[in-house]
Amino acid sequence: MQLLDIERQPDVTAADGVGLPVSGAARRVFVETYGCQMNVSDTELMMGVLKEAGFRRALRVEDADVVLLNTCAIRERAEERVVGRLSQLSSVKRMRPDLVLGVSGCMAKHLAEKLLNQLPYVDLVVGPDSYRRLPELIGEAAGNPALDVRLDRHEDYLDLDPVRQEGTNAWITIMRGCDKFCTFCIVPYVRGRERSVPAGDLLRQVRIAAAEGFREVTLLGQTVNSYHDGETDFADLLKMVAHVEGIRRIRFTSPHPSDFSDKLIDTMAEESKVCRFIHLPVQSGSDRVLKAMERIYSSGRYLDLVDRLRSALPGLCLSTDVIVGFPGEEDSDFESTMALMRHVRYDSAFMFKYSPRKGTVAFREIPDTVPEAEKTRRLQTVIAQQTKISGEINRGYVGHLQEVLVEGDARRGKGQAVGKSDGFKTVVFPKNGVRTNTFVDIRITGATSHTLIGRQEH
Ligand code: SAH
Ligand code: SF4
Ligand code: F3S
Repeated sequence: MQLLDIERQPDVTAADGVGLPVSGAARRVFVETYGCQMNVSDTELMMGVLKEAGFRRALRVEDADVVLLNTCAIRERAEERVVGRLSQLSSVKRMRPDLVLGVSGCMAKHLAEKLLNQLPYVDLVVGPDSYRRLPELIGEAAGNPALDVRLDRHEDYLDLDPVRQEGTNAWITIMRGCDKFCTFCIVPYVRGRERSVPAGDLLRQVRIAAAEGFREVTLLGQTVNSYHDGETDFADLLKMVAHVEGIRRIRFTSPHPSDFSDKLIDTMAEESKVCRFIHLPVQSGSDRVLKAMERIYSSGRYLDLVDRLRSALPGLCLSTDVIVGFPGEEDSDFESTMALMRHVRYDSAFMFKYSPRKGTVAFREIPDTVPEAEKTRRLQTVIAQQTKISGEINRGYVGHLQEVLVEGDARRGKGQAVGKSDGFKTVVFPKNGVRTNTFVDIRITGATSHTLIGRQEH
């Protein structure tokens, strides 16, 4: 799962009351979203629940009756940021005691008691399986703090329609929870057991998204390719989604390397709507560390999968997640990670320092041995190598044509538009009247390690 990484992108708080009509009389809600796409999708779901209950959207904290932070617990830094933001918001609450201040999502589940006991200005703590009860909990919170962080292995929200954020991509959560229990990871504890949404309900959602004008869908799950609703597996589902009229691009994240079947590879090869991009988290290149992480695969099996993918899917772009400084990681283990990344030559990578998470097996059983300074050194080393590789790969696109789905104005550069290539590369080009949510052919004229630069080809 790619993170809206709050450690590197402080302004990711994307969903400020997505899509709800703005109105005066009803209670107004403002949501800030942290963490991964799963949370973005959940914010859209919460907005659906709240809209049904008559809530309206606030565009700013100042105009809101309810402020919700939809949070992430993946690393300590993610939680620290939310605590900082809550303390900022507490001063707004001091001026307006009626304001309901709530925490939802993974950190709500992970730190429910701490939030309620140590932060008296928090009125509402709601875990990822309790969003159906949000309106009721907001009502209760007006008196005493309200809490619901029970995990429900049956909750898949399949009957609820999300209020989608405007944009070019519709997030479709196809499964919730995770059963893999990698030893470093908090997700199974805060998101509960794996469950898949029936394919029929998903197809209905995809058709609605297409009718709303979305040309791209991204299927979401913590191990998205282990999807199975009893009849339909992930490969079958991809095929079904590919047949929905109006959808031109299908993405998914994150697949687990050990759930990548030959059937899935063949299906991707057959269906040209499935983008030639895979985020394939490796975490480490050392077999010893992979074993301690309980990632189920070895580096050899992972590399074999990469070979099979690349031969079946010419032009495939790959990204990954890597953790450095996992307990017991020696220099030689780290070197194996560096070597694997040089071998695969990922288009891009998300690289993290190991962060001990209370409740996980690694936290309980393996001491956090690598000193902070050494973690920092390894992180900088691996980022430097990857930046160089990404730059080299991107420069290889110069002179080539890329079909780009236009997302809107570029953040920097006046008169520039930005969009994504099939291989998930960010492409910037002169706007010249191109419309958002259309496909244009761009001739690439330059590149950095993060961006392709080009102009429209007529
Ligand atoms: N289900 C996804 C992972 C979601 S979390 C998958 O398996 O791909 C996104 C990434 O955060 C993980 O891939 C991992 O690289 C990183 N991560 C998870 N727990 C972490 C921890 N305790 N410390 C540092 N990074 C962590
Ligand atoms: Fe976490 Fe592993 Fe599940 Fe991914 S597969 S969410 S890393 S436990
Ligand atoms: Fe996502 Fe963070 Fe939760 S990565 S699943 S929001 S812990």
